[in-house]
Amino acid sequence: MAVAAGTEATAADPAALDLTDPQTFFDNDPHGMWRPYREHNPLYWHPPKDGGPGFWVFTKYDDVMAAYRDNKRYTSEQGNVLATLLKGEDSASGKMLAVTDGPRHREVRNLMMKSFSPRVLAPVVANVKERTDRLVARAVEKGELDFVADVADRIPIHTIGDLMGIPDADRENVVDWNAQTLARHNPEDSEMESVVARNEIVHYIATLVAERRKDPGDDVLSTLAGATIGGVPLSDDEIVLQSYSLILGGDESSRASAAGTVLAFSEYPAQWARLKSGEVSLDSAAEELLRWTTPTMHFGRRALEDVEVRDKTIKKGEIITLWNSSANFDEDVFDDPYAFDVARSPNKHVSFGHGPHFCLGAYLGRVHLKAMLEALREKVSSIEVLDEPTRLFSNFGQGYSSMRARLTPA
Ligand code: HEM
Repeated sequence: MAVAAGTEATAADPAALDLTDPQTFFDNDPHGMWRPYREHNPLYWHPPKDGGPGFWVFTKYDDVMAAYRDNKRYTSEQGNVLATLLKGEDSASGKMLAVTDGPRHREVRNLMMKSFSPRVLAPVVANVKERTDRLVARAVEKGELDFVADVADRIPIHTIGDLMGIPDADRENVVDWNAQTLARHNPEDSEMESVVARNEIVHYIATLVAERRKDPGDDVLSTLAGATIGGVPLSDDEIVLQSYSLILGGDESSRASAAGTVLAFSEYPAQWARLKSGEVSLDSAAEELLRWTTPTMHFGRRALEDVEVRDKTIKKGEIITLWNSSANFDEDVFDDPYAFDVARSPNKHVSFGHGPHFCLGAYLGRVHLKAMLEALREKVSSIEVLDEPTRLFSNFGQGYSSMRARLTPA
């Protein structure tokens, strides 16, 4: 990806970039923006903005991994993304997996992992492949299309829908609410819309949970509704929040990696040729695309005690932010990090996080991406993105809200 003009100059003075402002990520190419941080300010204290607290910015792979691993000295319970960490709390704390720590986190995670084993997911995976194939076939017939609206938007939500047993007719609504919750599509959308959308989702799931308690099926929602921990059933509130976290975690990031895939192959046709010819495996290409697209730019934690990192002290109570979008391009770990290389090996990217909160849906995320690669490889000869795609307006999700593309049939 090309580095936006002027990016290096501004980022050499990191104080010029406000990481709390989505506009920063809209204006700057993230791949290029982080290099000067790693070189000059690998662990950086971001000054307070708009009356909020300041926070630490971790940009080096090893520091990011060490912090992800450490749920003793850092907690997720007061938020795990900048938006909630800056507020000082997450209303789902101690109930939603991603913002729960300690024994409760382990117990709930073990419970949910049962629904995420490859064996249990086999029928869901078969649906993903069938659906992806159908959508790509239709896209190829159409020739020119908006890849986000016509393809990427339509896959992951159905997977989560299958997992949770969401009726087909309701799935479009869930997609819309979710898009508004996570990453506002453009600078004009208001904060209020995302709050309203979040409430709509929570209310909707609460209705489903009530139905499943009366009439359970095989889906995750029914599993959660029927489960007990230490003999005590999960509360409705907790089930709603766990389900909501599957929608949050599974939808936007999987769409982002699909759209990012099309853009990457349009920009690097030689890499597309290597996949197309079978020279590289789907597995290898998928890992490089996860690194290259880094769908979640950051996660964060709060320090529970003083922690020494490099030559600095993170003080108890301070916020740390872990920038996957930098760590995945750390030149000390990845050879020639700005080369998109579908045969890259080793490729220990941090796109799914690391340690105790490692992405629960990583297997599904990979299934999505490989189904897309397989369908493209089989049905498409060349991929072209026609205009500048529209980036999401977010400092968290890295993706696109529209991408006009042409898929030429094989
Ligand atoms: C956690 C990324 C797909 C559900 C995470 C984390 C990352 C991540 C970086 C760690 C968060 C932290 O440390 O605070 C991604 C990416 C995906 C993806 C890049 C797709 C390409 C999915 C899918 C699902 C899912 C498909 C479910 C259907 C979750 C859940 C957690 C999580 C529940 C919390 C785990 C915990 O706290 O123990 N994801 N994810 N993700 N993800 Fe994903």
